Amino acid sequence: MSIKILYLSPSSQLGGAERSLIDNIFALRQQLPLAELSIIITAAHGDLASELETLGVQVFLVPLPAQISKLGDSSFKLQNIIANLWQLLIASSELFKYWRNLQQIINKINPDLIDSNGFKTHLLVTSLNVSCPIIWRLRDFISSRSLMKKLLALVKNKVALAIANSEATKDDWHSVFPQLPIKVIYNVVDITRFTPLPDSKPTMSIDHADLIKVGLVATYARWKGQEIFLQAIADLAQQQPLLITKARFYIVGGAIYETDRSQYSRSELIQLAQDLNIENWVEFIDFRTDIESIYNSLDIVVHASTKPEPFGRTIVEAMACEKAVIVANAGGAAELFTPNQDAIGVAPGNPQALAEAIRDLIASPEQRLAIGQAARKTVIKRFNRDRLGAELVSMYSSLIVC
Ligand code: GLC
Repeated sequence: MSIKILYLSPSSQLGGAERSLIDNIFALRQQLPLAELSIIITAAHGDLASELETLGVQVFLVPLPAQISKLGDSSFKLQNIIANLWQLLIASSELFKYWRNLQQIINKINPDLIDSNGFKTHLLVTSLNVSCPIIWRLRDFISSRSLMKKLLALVKNKVALAIANSEATKDDWHSVFPQLPIKVIYNVVDITRFTPLPDSKPTMSIDHADLIKVGLVATYARWKGQEIFLQAIADLAQQQPLLITKARFYIVGGAIYETDRSQYSRSELIQLAQDLNIENWVEFIDFRTDIESIYNSLDIVVHASTKPEPFGRTIVEAMACEKAVIVANAGGAAELFTPNQDAIGVAPGNPQALAEAIRDLIASPEQRLAIGQAARKTVIKRFNRDRLGAELVSMYSSLIVC
């Protein structure tokens, strides 16, 4: 079957949403080597574009005007609207020109199906004149996004199918749009790439062979909980001054998205570490495309999101590498593991609970090993990329036929 599928992504950086998109496209390529795949990325060139090009995807970079990409929901809170009025006016005239351009590109591609990966592209594509079926990937919760919720309500009827990354995401969207057809497809990982590499040398930045290395891997979106992690380290430093000398802590990631206000900056996090007097225990490391070598250099991986996590891709990636993962146990993240068997669950937003879980795992190499081994088995059973291709082909074909 030769079909033309057009993907849309609001970001060209490699966050969880984009890494999941790559897995989708990879799996589909395996099944349909002749499919004509293209993507419109509404951002400047980045790692996503390069990775997709190597999979034979035609990439169209159509960056949103800067005034628009910087707007997040918070820009539309009343006090911010007034402060940003001028900016919003300029943004709307730019948006009009942008829309026309996008419409022309889509007409030219003339896809059989469109698969959109983020809020901004959901909105853009459904507000255009498009005749093929449209899929929305639901990767984040909608109920707390006051503006986005209202905007998407205007266009939701144009969506043929929505695919949620977890039951929690599906339930959240259904609470806002009860009629939206939603199917859950869990994210998958490449278990040959995310695999334990016992002999691998520590990555150039994560060294300290003799210490237990504990790391949080996430974008700098505020709700990813870097602050909770830092507070937990401070708590440990106070309560367990001896134990902490055996450990080293890492915050891996960066402010990769363009939305203002909702992300930490590196300097803000460093300042926080200094204020808590733990700057000597913590290192900051940039995201890298070979993220698997980062997991392999760590002993304990921490997920500390303060809000329920829609899925939590890094949890599964780290589990696949046989790491002991501590998970903020809420939302879709709670669907990924069995507490105390293949990962440890803690209450989100609670630095003391996190400190205790880190302390227990630092103290017990046996527990780290047992949990890590069980974790990989879970990933092989439930989140293996091999299963995805066939599932996608059958879903896409059912939509294109009707
Ligand atoms: C979004 C979600 C995250 C999920 C990723 C992939 O980034 O916030 O929980 O893992 O999408 O679906």
